[in-house]
Amino acid sequence: MAFYKMTGPNSTFPFPLLDQPVNKTIEFFSKEELHANWSRLYFNVGGRARKHALSSTNAAYNASKFTSFGNYTNLGRKFKDAFLKAASPHTQFKYASISYKYYTDLSKHERFRKDKYFSHLRLAGLNPMAIRRVTLSGKSGTNYHNLLRRLNSKFDWDREITSITGDSSTQESIECNKVYVVEYPGLEGITQMPDYFLKHNPHKIMRNNPAQIALFAVDLQKRLRPVAIQNSTTKAGHVFTPRDGLLWEISRAELQISDVFYASNVEHLLKTHIKMEPICISIQRHLSKLHPLHQILQYHCLGLIPVNAFGLQSLLENLLTYRSLFSHGNEGARQLLLTAYEKMVWNDADLEWNIQERGMEDREQIPYYPYRDDGRLVNNILHGFADELVDLYYARDRDVRRDYELQNMIGELSQNKKSKNANKISKVKGLPSRFRRRWQLKKFVRQFLWVIVQHSILSYSVGEFFQSPIYPSKLYDSRTNAIKLEFVQMLPGPLNAALQESLASGVTTLHYDSMFSYWKHLKSRKLKFLVKSAYKNLAIAQHYITRRNRRRYIEGLLTNPFMTRNWMPSSICT
Ligand SMILES: [Fe+2]
Repeated sequence: MAFYKMTGPNSTFPFPLLDQPVNKTIEFFSKEELHANWSRLYFNVGGRARKHALSSTNAAYNASKFTSFGNYTNLGRKFKDAFLKAASPHTQFKYASISYKYYTDLSKHERFRKDKYFSHLRLAGLNPMAIRRVTLSGKSGTNYHNLLRRLNSKFDWDREITSITGDSSTQESIECNKVYVVEYPGLEGITQMPDYFLKHNPHKIMRNNPAQIALFAVDLQKRLRPVAIQNSTTKAGHVFTPRDGLLWEISRAELQISDVFYASNVEHLLKTHIKMEPICISIQRHLSKLHPLHQILQYHCLGLIPVNAFGLQSLLENLLTYRSLFSHGNEGARQLLLTAYEKMVWNDADLEWNIQERGMEDREQIPYYPYRDDGRLVNNILHGFADELVDLYYARDRDVRRDYELQNMIGELSQNKKSKNANKISKVKGLPSRFRRRWQLKKFVRQFLWVIVQHSILSYSVGEFFQSPIYPSKLYDSRTNAIKLEFVQMLPGPLNAALQESLASGVTTLHYDSMFSYWKHLKSRKLKFLVKSAYKNLAIAQHYITRRNRRRYIEGLLTNPFMTRNWMPSSICT
């Protein structure tokens, strides 16, 4: 179809996207039968609700000064209430913090200030993909000897680690899978921009957010606990521990800022939205409407292309999002995105590969890791679904090889030079140039679907966690050296807090459908049966995850419902 053209190399966004102007893209999809209702909800209802909530929140807080954490919590609540009221009666808009029974509220009793929840956020927060096991061999996880070259050698890491693990040496703790590290590669050295809200903060000066290294260790009760945070990725960095009072609180907050900035750009924007767009375009370009994969995958592409057209522009070019919220601004975001794009591989869309690569498989030392354990339940269902779908239409490997529509599609997406159709700028390394065997196609379908699950975790949890003081977007110091600010005074003001809520609500809140709920729209009886089975299997998984979340909630562990059917849509549409 002439509309579905892909961009070539261009200096603004050097990855393959739909080659159409933003307005034309949004207008085109608003008239497409499959996308029209979603388009109305996302752009019209959601967009209006967001504007209304932002202006009513600003009107209430504009002139006031925030002096307590409760001020921020109240602002968040006010924004969410105003948003939901404006979006009513459309029940597809929802927040887990308001309607999920087992939601652990971090703002309650100032839980966010506890190290326990700081650790939980690494395992069940908005980015459970940053944590890696420290290993001696380096075959998986992060090599200890390489790590030592980046750690401040004057700090007694051994004493701090073994005081938590109870072992006689760090080496012993590493051998027992008890030492973990959190880093954000690519964040060091990227641009810091001037404070966008300078005139709103005449007595304060914005801090440039550093790239850090945080070490964690498992204690005798199998709990992950923070060891220390180094405020640089080089040996010259200063190291802070939980005994350092305000300096520790600042270090933790700075890591939270790095976490949300990295997750939003690399894990969310790049590895879900941008990675999937060329595939969704290519499906339209090469698979006929009657092709079974077209019939299925079109539902999993719903909304993605118009969301990308709108989102990339508003995040990287609009002054009220990255530019105003983070010290790295939109220029830093763009630099991080491009660095990470060069390293992106298709396989990182595979849950098992990702867990093994980071060394996060040890359930004995890390018994609480919802991303891994709930993810496996869901991934098994996707596995079965992809296998059955391919078996249904391809009896032998030869049938896959002879499907020229399919081969043209993957040929265009592959970076392999042997592929005559290869898109010259495609950088999704690891996609084959041809499907030769059925297992390759099954794996592709499963990984494609997993990216959507991954998006659900990344996107919706931003709506719940990306708010000051849990996840501030930047911090401030006093302009006068003699005045030392308390932590609450270092947080950005009400306008920044309201904009955070607004950005978070733009990328979250709309739960348009449930994964596989489109079974009822399918015309083919065979496909209908297959998709309906997967839909039912997800209900069983949801039952187990809910039971786990109930137990986690009672035990005071962080929970999230974003891998359950009721909270996970069929596509990347927010
Ligand atoms: Fe998203």
